[in-house]
Amino acid sequence: MLIQTNTLPMFKGPEVHSDFDPTAQIILHCGDTLNFLETVPNDTAKLIITSPPYNLGKEYENKTAIETYLDFQDQVIDQLVSKLRTDGSICWQVGNFVEDSEVFPLDTLYYSHFKKHGMKLRNRIIWRFNHGLHASKRFSGRYETILWFTKSDNYTFNLDSVRVPRSSSQQARCARREAVRC
Ligand SMILES: C[S@@+](CC[C@H](N)C(=O)[O-])C[C@H]1O[C@@H](n2cnc3c(N)ncnc32)[C@H](O)[C@@H]1O
Repeated sequence: MLIQTNTLPMFKGPEVHSDFDPTAQIILHCGDTLNFLETVPNDTAKLIITSPPYNLGKEYENKTAIETYLDFQDQVIDQLVSKLRTDGSICWQVGNFVEDSEVFPLDTLYYSHFKKHGMKLRNRIIWRFNHGLHASKRFSGRYETILWFTKSDNYTFNLDSVRVPRSSSQQARCARREAVRC
């Protein structure tokens, strides 16, 4: 992301902080997640959106046994839940871990790590895409999932802000079924 620092004062955006500051509007911290989370007070975040590594051996991670990988991420989840406000949400986006052509859907392995904190799953959102590696002995992987958990029943969901408008054929179908709620 390009952050311009030499903009005219009248066009300046909010200051970008590199460490946690309760008065900051934007914090971009480059460092280890656990170290950073230690600096954040409990009950601070209303919404946490993250996509952790998938243990695939990418340049930013060491591929390990799946149990070791989950043990590490469990520490992150413990911290995130503490930092989350009672009315807060966590969106945790992961794909599949694949080993010897066997597929491990990471979201299913993560579910219990959130449930042990009493978190409640509100949606398991599927992100479907058209690109990626081609598999030859199974269907190619073309989706990832986002687990949306809330800490309590008191949470924010702005449906109207993200609602997909009905197509004209859907509108016509709904009009025909006046008595039935669409
Ligand atoms: C699956 S990618 C998600 C990328 C992200 N969605 C984005 O668009 O930049 C996982 C990211 O976690 C970062 N990461 C890996 N281990 C980390 C750690 N211990 N602390 C902080 N970030 C870490 C990696 O550098 C990588 O950018």
